[in-house]
Amino acid sequence: MISPLKFPRKLFISKLFILSVVTYTIIFSLTAFLNQKSFLQRYTSKINSQINIHYAKWRNNFLTTEYNLESNPEFLHQLHDLKQQEILTNDDLWFLREDSQLSIPLELEIPHYFESEILVKPMIQHFDPRFTLAVYMNYLTQFETQDKIKFHWSDWVDMTKLYKYILNPHKGESADLCDKLFNILAKTEEPDKVHNFRDYCSADYDGFLGFKINEFTGPQTLENREILGKAYLYSSAPSPFKIVFLTNDDRSIEFEVDSLENDRKNSLLSNGYIHSMMKNGGILHKKDIVNVADAFKGFIKNRLESKSTESKKVKDGVSTLTKSHIIMNESDFDFTKEDIDNVLKQDFSELPHFSEQNYYRGVEFSSSTNDPPKYFGEAKMIKEVDGFMHGEHYDWRFFNGLILEHEDQILSLHRLIKNYLNFCRTNGIKTWIAHGSLLSWYWNGMGFPWDNDIDVQMPIRDLHKLARHFNQSLVVENIVGKDGQFDGMGRYFIDVGSSITHRKNGNGNNNIDARFIDVDTGLYIDITGLALTDEPAPSRYDILIQMDPNKKAAVENSKERNEGNLDHLVKNQQLQAYNCRNRHFNILDELSPLVKTIVENQVSYVPKNFLVPLNNEYDVKSIIEKDFKEYIFVNNLRIWMKTQSILDYFKKIGRPSELNLFKDLNSIKSFNKEVRKLQLNKLDIEDHLNLLKNNKYFKEFFTSKEFTKFHELELEQLSKDPVDYNVDEFIKEVKEFTLPELNIGKPLKADLFMNKVFQDSKTYDYNKKIDEVLKLTKEYINEIEDLTKKSKQERNKKSSE
Ligand SMILES: *[C@@H]1O[C@H](CO)[C@@H](O)[C@H](O)[C@H]1NC(C)=O
Ligand SMILES: *[C@@H]1O[C@H](CO)[C@@H](O)[C@H](O)[C@H]1NC(C)=O
Repeated sequence: MISPLKFPRKLFISKLFILSVVTYTIIFSLTAFLNQKSFLQRYTSKINSQINIHYAKWRNNFLTTEYNLESNPEFLHQLHDLKQQEILTNDDLWFLREDSQLSIPLELEIPHYFESEILVKPMIQHFDPRFTLAVYMNYLTQFETQDKIKFHWSDWVDMTKLYKYILNPHKGESADLCDKLFNILAKTEEPDKVHNFRDYCSADYDGFLGFKINEFTGPQTLENREILGKAYLYSSAPSPFKIVFLTNDDRSIEFEVDSLENDRKNSLLSNGYIHSMMKNGGILHKKDIVNVADAFKGFIKNRLESKSTESKKVKDGVSTLTKSHIIMNESDFDFTKEDIDNVLKQDFSELPHFSEQNYYRGVEFSSSTNDPPKYFGEAKMIKEVDGFMHGEHYDWRFFNGLILEHEDQILSLHRLIKNYLNFCRTNGIKTWIAHGSLLSWYWNGMGFPWDNDIDVQMPIRDLHKLARHFNQSLVVENIVGKDGQFDGMGRYFIDVGSSITHRKNGNGNNNIDARFIDVDTGLYIDITGLALTDEPAPSRYDILIQMDPNKKAAVENSKERNEGNLDHLVKNQQLQAYNCRNRHFNILDELSPLVKTIVENQVSYVPKNFLVPLNNEYDVKSIIEKDFKEYIFVNNLRIWMKTQSILDYFKKIGRPSELNLFKDLNSIKSFNKEVRKLQLNKLDIEDHLNLLKNNKYFKEFFTSKEFTKFHELELEQLSKDPVDYNVDEFIKEVKEFTLPELNIGKPLKADLFMNKVFQDSKTYDYNKKIDEVLKLTKEYINEIEDLTKKSKQERNKKSSE
């Protein structure tokens, strides 16, 4: 059963002593190694990174039990039992059931009111991504020549929170909805931070809501936050320029929208798509049923395999990134004055695509303003709201409630990175994960459980490519994966800021260049571009100039030309040092070549010398210390657990706390920390199994174990020689000999919508929702008729008086 304390006290103390000595020696020597001595080596020697990773690993596991649980039959057996017990009874774990694929509800009935044009339609088509996507894909398959599509946001984003406004028969008479809803001055102690509601809200008596949200709104209450973005999308926001459907074979299929105008007539309720689709001979086998997976399969087969349409429908001139290494050069990071002038010379009114026209206008605006306004709007809240500061992590337009530490957040972020990486790769856009996302990848290939956003970088030239072709595009996830199984239905909006030609911090308004936004949650990926500028580079790079006579001479010469002042542009050129607008610097040699690797089970690229930026930004400690914030890395399971949940477990089973043995040492803080870690690291196999009884950890471990094991093996290869590493070959090898179930490309976590359907399986019923809205609509119409009658009578009365 539960194992008692294993160390005799003496051994424990001596281990502790060794640990302290070793810790300080390693940290000291590593820090010295990285920060003082061999700068040149640091950027050129591959041995360097090898040492770091091996040191880190050794240090991580010095006091830790290492069980290799995956090859322990007893553990596997008990894990299997645990799984059987848990998943049968728990809707939370539906994603792990063997038959989950079979039970995913992919089919929906087409609501009966679409059968004939004369039937009363509801005011709203209840949102269900299965319905929207299946209908669009079926329609585009049946009408092959169609290459533009009609669009209204209400088919793509859940507007349920607006129903009470849309279906309010009295909205026409109520005096001033803007004032009634959005005047919150009395609710906050900081009224000066609140925007005047008249600036963003206008009355719209004939419209569908009774009011109209025209632009970003400043801090608000939580309830208002949840309607403002949706109201904007419903009544004012322009349509995206393009819809980009990701396929499951590294391609994507694009459609421009018919019109940018926000017009409800373009929604599925009134755009006629469903009717034409039904008239045109039914949908697959049954006339009134759509199946989102079948629709997807038919759609990509039709659009990708029919040679006649291929050249037209699949984007020309873009090649998927497939190489195991991508060499970048100076020109990737320098979108020159000449490049910009070339853009501006074009007569953009002649261009056929919204996106290109918009890009030319964007570059023109950017290069003609010195003081660009802040571009992105987050879901800001007044400080009276619990957790108001977390609003910063959501785009205001797509905000759908605070989901901090909620499972939805983890699902949303996992799909964000999956779709972002696949979108960029298939469209030839070079990008890599950066900052905290790179650090979390280092540990187990996954995101940190406490993350609330994702950071990526790209060269400035790729940012221009993104802006030119994909600014204001909506990206749709591949519904079915390579293996023929359901994959996901995520939708993502690409938004590129309006000051792309500004490459320095400037007024500090726009540190982020672009965002890839989950339209279901408003969570996003922050994209920053790296470019050559005259922003001063950090002094850590100075030694590279000092040690190279040519570079030194070039920098000295520039001083002479520049009245004795250092010309930072010349210096950065010599260093090949590039910065984002938040002044994060990297030099080319840290980044290039990008190495193909796997991030959260998706194909990606990381900088060749990824440890160097990590050390620059977070210090070597970040890859050595296993506890971070209130979490600790459990190396045998390769997941992060809350330290408290392990301590609670110890308490529950009555394991004595060694902290008590060392009361007299309490004053030595770091020593104390080591003691705690030592205790946490002494988990035996049974402890591991017991900890996995927590559903959250079970789910995390069970879904990621093949991939995180792969990551561990991959990291060893990468540290030997990143430039020789070939991920495709390595995957083959690992699959053959170690991890037969490894399935790269497959999402490791549930689809956000399907997860809701399963967890509310008792309450979520599409047909019922449709009927509800229809009923409300009929009531609405009756009431409106009554109201009209009444006012007519009153008028008659008045005129007869
Ligand atoms: C940089 O690379 C691109 C292709 O990736 C190539 O066309 C260009 O000539 C290179 N430029 C320099 C300065 O090497
Ligand atoms: C992206 O599109 C938005 C909206 O049209 C525009 O304001 C912005 O300037 C565009 N960005 C670029 C770089 O063109």
